Amino acid sequence: MAEQTFIMIKPDGVQRGLVGEIISRFEKKGFYLKGLKFLNVERAFAEKHYADLSAKPFFGGLVEYIVSGPVVAMIWEGKNVVLTGRKIIGATNPAQSEPGTIRGDFAVEIGRNVIHGSDSVDSANKEIALWFPEGPANWQSSQH
Ligand code: CMP
Repeated sequence: MAEQTFIMIKPDGVQRGLVGEIISRFEKKGFYLKGLKFLNVERAFAEKHYADLSAKPFFGGLVEYIVSGPVVAMIWEGKNVVLTGRKIIGATNPAQSEPGTIRGDFAVEIGRNVIHGSDSVDSANKEIALWFPEGPANWQSSQH
């Protein structure tokens, strides 16, 4: 199976009307949309998604942020999509993300950085299993 990654547009990205812009960037690059959900997540679910960061001082604030409004959860597929997706997104801290990246163009605060993308193939597989237990959508072979 081709590589897949998990991408989440965070509540600030949704509230600021960046959903179309973000999806467009991944589509225009040539990646394939394999799953999409618009949903509010429970606190326990957000804690599970960010479990690796539970010891960080910003963990509580991060969870509050993620449950503060609806998010867009997506599966994107394509060659090297995990690493390339991270490049499209830009550095975690918007102060270090380059113009032309999503965070470089649309964010200023690390605590309001618009979007999440899996940081490795292993994380992507875990995050896709958490958010899409039913699995990705199927394309016809002629389309993809
Ligand atoms: P994300 O790519 O979702 O991965 C972990 C998230 O933790 C990150 O984006 C930021 O939203 C958040 N984060 C990381 N470092 C900090 C920090 N120093 N202060 C607040 N939030 C942070």
